[in-house]
Amino acid sequence: MTRAEVPIPGFCSVVVGGQRCSRPRASEPFPRSCCSPAAAAASCAAGSWCASVSLRFRARGSFCSASSWKTVSISDLRPVTYDGSICGNDQNGTKIAVQFRSGFSWTVSFTKEASTYSIGSILFSYNMSDSTTFPDAKEKGIVTVNDSVAIKIPLDDIFRCNSLSVLKENNVLQYFWDVHIQPFVQNGTVSTKEFVCDEDKTPTTLAPIIHTTAPSPTTTPAAKEKPEVGNYSVNNGNGTCLLASMGLQLNITQDKVASVININPNTTDFTGNCHTETALLRLNSSTIRYLDFVFAVKNENRFYLKEVNISMRLVNGSVFSIANNNLSYWDAPLGSSYMCNKEQTVSVSGTFQINTFDLRVQPFSVKEGKYSTAEECSADSDLNFLIPVAVGVALGFLIIVVFISYMIGRRKSRTGYQSV
Ligand SMILES: *[C@@H]1O[C@H](CO)[C@@H](O)[C@H](O)[C@H]1NC(C)=O
Ligand SMILES: *[C@@H]1O[C@H](CO)[C@@H](O)[C@H](O)[C@H]1NC(C)=O
Ligand SMILES: *[C@@H]1O[C@H](CO)[C@@H](O)[C@H](O)[C@H]1NC(C)=O
Ligand SMILES: *[C@@H]1O[C@H](CO)[C@@H](O)[C@H](O)[C@H]1NC(C)=O
Ligand SMILES: *[C@@H]1O[C@H](CO)[C@@H](O)[C@H](O)[C@H]1NC(C)=O
Ligand SMILES: *[C@@H]1O[C@H](CO)[C@@H](O)[C@H](O)[C@H]1NC(C)=O
Ligand SMILES: *[C@@H]1O[C@H](CO)[C@@H](O)[C@H](O)[C@H]1NC(C)=O
Ligand SMILES: *[C@@H]1O[C@H](CO)[C@@H](O)[C@H](O)[C@H]1NC(C)=O
Ligand SMILES: *[C@@H]1O[C@H](CO)[C@@H](O)[C@H](O)[C@H]1NC(C)=O
Repeated sequence: MTRAEVPIPGFCSVVVGGQRCSRPRASEPFPRSCCSPAAAAASCAAGSWCASVSLRFRARGSFCSASSWKTVSISDLRPVTYDGSICGNDQNGTKIAVQFRSGFSWTVSFTKEASTYSIGSILFSYNMSDSTTFPDAKEKGIVTVNDSVAIKIPLDDIFRCNSLSVLKENNVLQYFWDVHIQPFVQNGTVSTKEFVCDEDKTPTTLAPIIHTTAPSPTTTPAAKEKPEVGNYSVNNGNGTCLLASMGLQLNITQDKVASVININPNTTDFTGNCHTETALLRLNSSTIRYLDFVFAVKNENRFYLKEVNISMRLVNGSVFSIANNNLSYWDAPLGSSYMCNKEQTVSVSGTFQINTFDLRVQPFSVKEGKYSTAEECSADSDLNFLIPVAVGVALGFLIIVVFISYMIGRRKSRTGYQSV
């Protein structure tokens, strides 16, 4: 298994005993179908295992085109059955068998030793005869890929691997993340001890975001790209009273690991309200319960971002909430808008910061739904400010050079006159 990126919080629900996961979203870097409820029976195995599969097959050529490779992503697992799942005991291992849609099946086998267990094999099979998924497949029939992962884990521990792992075998790419599994639950009690996979152990010498250099040979999620810019507005019944457009990237640090999440404007809702002295922009999505931006007026002539208040669901089901009402960002005169195209960071707390891109906001005095003139952040104007300085320095230098050459020239001509 190889590591490819920090998990995106909030995508899967935590499972003990088996439950559905949230539906895959178009915003994902690649299609993920979610959480096979890994626990065949809560009494013998518990946990969750998020998986997604992408596979290629050779499509038949036609009269005028050659055969070609096509890619299929299995993005919705339902309906799901668990036939063939076995509760492990001293003789036989635990097996989690999942069948979904038509002809797909996925089986993970665990074996038990005296004081350890291991994840033996991960089998994935699909039916190329299924003409809905493989409409013009050249070959027909059932294809099975078998991967083995030889990891030994103490019997009483939950195996945890939040990091994205990629298994590649022939034409099948399997992505796994948020794996929390205890295949041999002892005495009916789910353990609290975790065995953490290497990928989750952040090397202390490396910044956690570095694994964007995905070693996987095929298309894996690229480096955390810039978030898409969303256009947000608030209407107070009299027309638009607040305007904002910005790309937002959340950076949550927990247990020294930073997770960076881009907000996808396509799947984000917004509301808010406007008063004379304060204005609120609230965003929410399936994982973000609310992300509030509260603006205020100071000295009766300027506005600024005063408060950020967030509550969001993380991968493991816990809720992350932070508020800070003593901020001072995005400061501009009333009647104008604030603009910053460069990346800027709003540091809400030691564990939470928001990176903004191509930012423009106007929380007060919006006229006819349009932005007023913008006051630009100093980061944007850095260069503009440097240009005259550079020109000045160059000019000064030129003058000095001219002056020195003039002096040398004069001295030379003087000595010349004297020698004659
Ligand atoms: C958002 O929607 C637009 C238009 O439908 C699309 O071009 C864009 O790729 C979508 N962005 C994401 C992150 O899904
Ligand atoms: C182990 O599996 C075999 C066949 O799969 C079965 O016949 C046997 O009863 C199982 N043993 C136990 C103790 O469940
Ligand atoms: C399970 O129960 C047995 C006997 O009741 C006990 O010896 C053992 O330590 C228990 N194991 C765990 C993991 O609690
Ligand atoms: C709407 O606009 C009118 C006229 O400009 C103003 O008198 C009224 O107070 C406004 N209502 C709200 C809710 O802002
Ligand atoms: C996320 O936050 C951490 C800790 O504050 C910081 O070291 C890291 O550079 C940040 N990452 C991004 C992409 O902003
Ligand atoms: C945002 O919140 C509203 C009201 O609570 C809810 O109806 C809506 O579905 C939420 N939007 C998303 C994208 O979850
Ligand atoms: C979820 O993960 C965070 C950080 O990894 C941790 O602080 C929190 O306790 C976890 N919550 C649960 C319910 O496991
Ligand atoms: C943050 O929002 C929550 C829910 O709306 C609210 O209860 C809480 O008081 C807010 N915190 C601050 C500091 O405003
Ligand atoms: C708010 O921030 C200012 C400076 O950033 C600081 O001096 C002040 O003590 C803070 N107030 C509170 C209540 O945290």
